[in-house]
Amino acid sequence: MRGKFITFEGIDGAGKSTHVEWVADRLRARLAGTASVVTTREPGGTPLGEDLRQLLLHRKMHLETEALLMFAARREHIAEVIEPALTRGDWVVSDRFTDATFAYQGGGRGLPRARLEVLEAWVQDGLQPDLTLLFDVPLETASARLAGAREPDKFEAESRTFFERTRQEYLRRAAESAQRFRVIDATRSIPEIQVELEKILATL
Ligand SMILES: Nc1ncnc2c1ncn2[C@@H]1O[C@H](COP(=O)(O)OP(=O)(O)OP(=O)(O)O)[C@@H](O)[C@H]1O
Ligand SMILES: [Mg+2]
Repeated sequence: MRGKFITFEGIDGAGKSTHVEWVADRLRARLAGTASVVTTREPGGTPLGEDLRQLLLHRKMHLETEALLMFAARREHIAEVIEPALTRGDWVVSDRFTDATFAYQGGGRGLPRARLEVLEAWVQDGLQPDLTLLFDVPLETASARLAGAREPDKFEAESRTFFERTRQEYLRRAAESAQRFRVIDATRSIPEIQVELEKILATL
């Protein structure tokens, strides 16, 4: 049986990475040795993808170059990691996927959605996550969490309005694909969020 594909989304500092390994461990317990759980991330997830991540996070480039490199890294990620795992029957948990490109390059930077839809159709060839967890927080909460946590990369140094547009595009996509998304109120404490995550996992 084909495995399931779960993605984590939300603006920088929302709390995605905090929960990825925890969710993977809960899934491992539930699957009880019948399938493995692979954790991965975007941009990245493969050796080439991680090289592209360094360029994407630190080099200035044309907006369309940025979108094309995101999808180039994603093509490699799907071919080398995601699709082989799902075909084997393993589950995949990815820290970001295509919704992030729509939110950041589309909502945040203003690249027309239709352009991204062309790339999505080409690169994914029908592949969509079975479940997307959207960690939603106001910008103030996210930036307070990140303050002092690390040096900002190219995206984290963006303006308030950029992140507001990014957050709104995530929420718009969640409303548009309500079947696939679960919006998590990520202003709550980590244990409270984990209680909700456990309930969501039980429905899979
Ligand atoms: N619910 C929470 N309450 C308080 N602090 C939190 C919560 N969730 C995460 N944090 C803290 O906020 C910071 C950012 O969390 P995390 O790295 O998980 O965010 P992220 O969504 O992965 O961000 P990025 O997109 O930049 O990778 C971390 O220092 C983390 O410990
Ligand atoms: Mg993270």
